[in-house]
Amino acid sequence: MKIFLRAKPSYSIVMTAILTMGAVSLSACSESNTKAVDRVEEAEALARVKSLEARATAIKEEMAANPGAKLNISMPDESTIPDDEYGAAVRRGLELANHTYRELPNNVGNQLNCTSCHLNNGSEAYAAPWNGLPGIFPIYRGRDARVNSLQERINGCFQRSMNGTPLDMNSDEMNAFMSYMTWLSQDMPIGISPEGRGFVAIDNTLTPDPENGKKLFVETCVSCHGDDGEGQYNDDGTYIYPAIAGSNSFNDGAGMARTYKAAAFVKGKMPFGQGNTLTDQEAIDISSYFTQLPRPVKANKDKDWPKGGAPVDVRR
Ligand code: HEC
Ligand code: HEC
Repeated sequence: MKIFLRAKPSYSIVMTAILTMGAVSLSACSESNTKAVDRVEEAEALARVKSLEARATAIKEEMAANPGAKLNISMPDESTIPDDEYGAAVRRGLELANHTYRELPNNVGNQLNCTSCHLNNGSEAYAAPWNGLPGIFPIYRGRDARVNSLQERINGCFQRSMNGTPLDMNSDEMNAFMSYMTWLSQDMPIGISPEGRGFVAIDNTLTPDPENGKKLFVETCVSCHGDDGEGQYNDDGTYIYPAIAGSNSFNDGAGMARTYKAAAFVKGKMPFGQGNTLTDQEAIDISSYFTQLPRPVKANKDKDWPKGGAPVDVRR
């Protein structure tokens, strides 16, 4: 059980609010009335930030006292989602992550959800979890050779993994994703990249064998993902198993379309529920086969990695 230390508005904040509202009634000016409300909200936001800071300090002290201990990447208890506007945005972010193509048809060009890859609500270690990311971004990325905000990184997955179009930076939907990721990060100190971020490590000096990959794909993947990787669907259009190839899948500019990147996910997480049962070579062989099956084409991917340094498995 985790306890979310979200401070209730303190006595002094309530007092400030009451005093401020007193001042408003004296001046009888409707403009400062709005300001008084703003101040109460600001104070609540400040109290939340202060409690998160206190939490971060406690975690850092705990880590210093137990140097071997790992940060816990998991889904916090949903009862810690506050019952206010911010909490509503957190819940909306969780819904968007799990029902992305249903909820955002204008931005998604396939039949995937964020959680098709970011397993378990984006909170599973070695399935590119989102825990901690608001305290890690902005970071420099070689793919577009500039510092990326977390919002830009999210839009990267919209344009490639979701084969779609970016969200408006100022939209409620973007704020919902940011709110959800922030809530997920309540036990993550700022600036520390946790063990379990990204995927398991894989030996990318091994040479892929797509012929062997095809054989293994038939044996280990098609029972769920279909003969051509097209996925399986319910009558209402929701998937039972997501498409890993074809028009309902990610495009060829996505990270998952790269042999070694896909292999790192597959090795750690597939077949579903049997992660880490394939060898590095098997995961690489399978990935060199299924990533090259027909799939949507990303325009302008020749402009990726403008300053060079592209990994060997990048698609052109
Ligand atoms: C087809 C699989 C797939 C889907 C679907 C997908 N992503 Fe990703 N995402 C990836 C891969 C691969 C990475 C890179 C992981 C790595 O290199 O460690 C990534 C990375 C990220 C990162 C950065 C993680 C980090 O540690 O820096 C964020 C944030 C992210 N995705 C958000 C999203 C959101 C939001 C959605 C839904 C709109 C989404 N992704 C859908 C595959 C996917
Ligand atoms: C028992 C069924 C099952 C088997 C077998 C299986 N998968 Fe998956 N796969 C899943 C499920 C379930 C998800 C995640 C869907 C979710 O949680 O929304 C998934 C997700 C994926 C994804 C990311 C989402 C996407 O559509 O791109 C890839 C890639 C993938 N699997 C590849 C493979 C490969 C390669 C194999 C064979 C080594 C394999 N899977 C075997 C069930 C399976």
